[in-house]
Amino acid sequence: VTHVSVGLLGLGTVGSGVVRMIEGNREELQHRVGCPVFIEKILVQNVEKERLVSINNEWLTQHPEDVIQNPNIQVVIEVMGGIELAREYITLALQNKKHVITANKDLMALYGAELLQVAHENECDLFYEASVAGGIPIIRSLVDGLASDKITKMMGIVNGTTNYILTKMDKQQRNYEEVLKEAQDLGYAEADPTSDVEGIDAARKMAILSTLGFSMHIHLDDVTVSGISKVTQEDLEYARQFGYTLKLIGNAKKDNGKVEISVEPTLLPDSHPLASVHNEYNAVYVYGESVGETMFFGPGAGQLPTATSVVSDLVAVVKNMRLGVNGKSVVAPQFDKQLKQPNE
Ligand code: NDP
Ligand code: HSE
Repeated sequence: VTHVSVGLLGLGTVGSGVVRMIEGNREELQHRVGCPVFIEKILVQNVEKERLVSINNEWLTQHPEDVIQNPNIQVVIEVMGGIELAREYITLALQNKKHVITANKDLMALYGAELLQVAHENECDLFYEASVAGGIPIIRSLVDGLASDKITKMMGIVNGTTNYILTKMDKQQRNYEEVLKEAQDLGYAEADPTSDVEGIDAARKMAILSTLGFSMHIHLDDVTVSGISKVTQEDLEYARQFGYTLKLIGNAKKDNGKVEISVEPTLLPDSHPLASVHNEYNAVYVYGESVGETMFFGPGAGQLPTATSVVSDLVAVVKNMRLGVNGKSVVAPQFDKQLKQPNE
């Protein structure tokens, strides 16, 4: 491998961070992967739009084939979001023998198994570290770091937007709409923030974590969900008076082979470690039978934290290219899915 050329699908919040990191950390990246990394093309909707990062205008295109069928490109980074088009482009990119990195949890929660199979068949990597908890390397921790253990419980704050809203409503007594707008302006929220505030984004992430942690195909529909759109200032005030903090908590448990996964606003005693996770920060508690309690903490959304996960996936892809082992690391879930019933 003498050099690596990368194509991006999308140049919004995350895509801009990826460009900043590839350009700004050029030396470090070259040192880590052993060859230079170049940006070749970037798919956007509107080539005239002002960008959050300085770019070479020749990079931009409105034609997806300039990225996914470009013979010069070895790695495609999907940071455009949405489900059907992203699924189509990623499938085509893999069939064109391009390794793919995505930050798209909407897609991976629904079609992760299908896309990983396509990647495997084409001897390509498909990595998605940024899809859960932004800058926290939680996927790699489950897949590699804790791979020897039996994970029985995961609990966490896995949506930055809602944690930002709850923090500002609670600590600064500000109103919901104003703080949601601020989270959107800061680039934390999804294009349609309904999935954030209704808990669906967190449910997608819990489905991905549970699939990996429990080694079962967990679908989004297996997660019971409620969000924070109905939380009022009075609820937070009431919690505060009694020494509690309200957080949107994802919970996943495996007991006797049966799993139970939920996302819901939850009252935590102020002394609970997750009660002090504020703003866009996320934290994931993982319990393994051998390791015991572990906790992962860091920024859960935003340009550079998310780009860190994406570009670290790029480093992993290039290392695999040098070793000739791309697409070899996919391990299919081991257990049949068994969900705990409400009356059990
Ligand atoms: P943005 O809305 O900021 O950016 C989306 C980009 O994709 C834009 O550049 C847009 O083009 C381009 N795009 C969208 N649809 C199309 C299309 N049909 N054809 C061509 N280009 C298209 O999104 P984010 O960067 O915030 O998020 C990207 C992905 O990363 C999503 O899957 C999101 O869930 C995920 N993610 C986001 C995080 C965050 O903190 N924001 C954190 C972790 C994951 P144009 O600019 O021309 O409009
Ligand atoms: N909208 C998501 C969040 C982005 O707020 O957590 C990170 O996945």
